[in-house]
Amino acid sequence: MTMFNIEGADGLTHEIDVPSGRSLLDACRKGGLPMEGLCGGELACSTCHVVVAPQWIERLPRASAEEEDMLDLLPNTVAGSRLACQIRASDATDGLCVRLMPMVEGAA
Ligand code: FES
Repeated sequence: MTMFNIEGADGLTHEIDVPSGRSLLDACRKGGLPMEGLCGGELACSTCHVVVAPQWIERLPRASAEEEDMLDLLPNTVAGSRLACQIRASDATDGLCVRLMPMVEGAA
């Protein structure tokens, strides 16, 4: 199991574990956190926007060109912006800290 630390809009950090290979989007859903994830991980929306904590940015595999393209559609990206459906649970991501980003109109 991989533990993700996910800060919600309420400012609280939720510790949610998922089996290896599952996505951060899956973890948010398991935890009942407010994330749309409209396309189900097909890189066709941007409704799974999260911000990775600074100390984790370089530890994650780089975003693919397709993920970068989808992030470019969002008006509120910041350093550390990623799509939760593209981050996988593994030994390398155990303990990952992220913050949910609020939904923006037209992101899908
Ligand atoms: S769920 Fe659609 S891009 Fe992540």
